[in-house]
Amino acid sequence: MKIYVSDDYKGMSRKAANIVSAQVILNPACVLGLATGSTPIGMYQQLIDWYNKGDLDFSQVKSVNLDEYVGLAPTHDQSYRYFMQHNLFDHVNIDPANTNVPNGLASDPEAECQRYNEVIRSMGGIDVQVLGMGHNGHIGFNEPGQAFELETHVVDLTERTIEANARFFASKDEVPKRAITMGIKSIMQARQILVVVSGEDKAEIVKKAFFGPVVPQVPASILQMHPNVVLCGDKAALSQIL
Ligand code: F6R
Repeated sequence: MKIYVSDDYKGMSRKAANIVSAQVILNPACVLGLATGSTPIGMYQQLIDWYNKGDLDFSQVKSVNLDEYVGLAPTHDQSYRYFMQHNLFDHVNIDPANTNVPNGLASDPEAECQRYNEVIRSMGGIDVQVLGMGHNGHIGFNEPGQAFELETHVVDLTERTIEANARFFASKDEVPKRAITMGIKSIMQARQILVVVSGEDKAEIVKKAFFGPVVPQVPASILQMHPNVVLCGDKAALSQIL
């Protein structure tokens, strides 16, 4: 594993954007695995900035996102499709037809998972998968205790997650109860994994995930078994491992 430590969130975002850019420059038709959440937003902003300066070209890039809520339309401001449009896709020259997010409105979510696995396979797999990490070590919507060997699948959100998300919706009842997520197996098949972490509140889980035992109770711990992981964090998030 390579570890890049930056002074702050901005530095971490820039370093992570450097790594994604390297892929895009060296392999213009690369497949980027993308994540939502607050941590990668600065990285996306940096990529947009370099695109605007003429340093990056996304015209042949393909993307595949980690996850999506079941039941949310792409236009819903809490959907992950909306997040990606707003935070990256609408601002660079990526071909919309080359961007993939699970379809939250699929009438048969299980069939949508199979379709999504096929999409990933048909693209020849993922060149670099960006991952944020939850405080409990979740990656994508793979929560503690889930099997390591799953590909894209439907998950029931925990009561804790539903409550945590309620602030983004008019009421708790509107919070989706299920999501589609790439599984740990899909994630582990990416050729490179870029984990982004920021803030002291992530320090403990970073230590557990990368220096503790590899156990399903800490889903991100499986990344220790991946041959090409890059961990990009700010000093605060990496404080317990440096
Ligand atoms: C995002 C995702 C989640 C987040 C994780 C960390 O697509 O699947 O696993 O990466 O919850 O979120 P932030 O970055 O908001 O701390």
